[in-house]
Amino acid sequence: SMVRLEAFAEVESTNDYLLEQAPPPIRRFRVALADFQTAGRGRMDRRWDAPPGSGLCLSIAYTFQRLPAQVSALTLAIGQALIDGLARSGYCGIKLKWPNDLMAKNRKLGGVLTELRTGGAPTVVVGLGLNVDFATVGGTLPARAIDLRSLGDRPIDRVLLTATVIECLHSCIAGFERDGFAQWFDRWPEYDWLRDQQVRVDTGNGAMEGIAAGIDRDGAMLVLADSRQHRVISGSVVPVADANP
Ligand code: BTN
Repeated sequence: SMVRLEAFAEVESTNDYLLEQAPPPIRRFRVALADFQTAGRGRMDRRWDAPPGSGLCLSIAYTFQRLPAQVSALTLAIGQALIDGLARSGYCGIKLKWPNDLMAKNRKLGGVLTELRTGGAPTVVVGLGLNVDFATVGGTLPARAIDLRSLGDRPIDRVLLTATVIECLHSCIAGFERDGFAQWFDRWPEYDWLRDQQVRVDTGNGAMEGIAAGIDRDGAMLVLADSRQHRVISGSVVPVADANP
């Protein structure tokens, strides 16, 4: 159950905020959200910038009793759970770009940033940045981005959306602690935005091109290149069509 929910008009980063706070007790969670972040962070040291009120900047901290086996795949399960939740709210056709980008109409709708703090009981902080409605606050969407409002035909009830997202994140993390990644793994092909695309992978120690071929049971991405299957554990992946426009 939830121990605390805090909503800020402005904060540096909801992930940083929760990482600085005392961790929730075992199997409990705590949420922070903000209208605006001054130092929002994305994966791989990128920034996450969004005009005030344009979207959802929300993080949840959860303390596991024991670290789940395939915790590196938690980000994937979270993305899948969010896609399910948004579909139930009437937003269909959203896909996941390994490992953490929510994609709609081939544009980025949002991103997930998962961070783990170990030492004592392991605490995970999962942050979601979701583009909700840029036009209403007079904002312009970045290139290759899209917001939820453009996917539907009516204004968005942000309170309801926030509640849906919190419920989704919490039940996904608690379910993952119980059952691991297996069930999400089986359903991965339904969500996989990169599948069969020619991609460029940059792992930090070299780049490679190949065909995206799904994931393995640990959540590593599989890429076919030089008639071999390569496992990618972390790195950036872009469709070659986007890399050389
Ligand atoms: C990405 O696209 O690489 C992930 C973006 C994650 C952004 C969210 S917004 C709430 C939380 N706080 C942060 O500083 N980052 C995450």
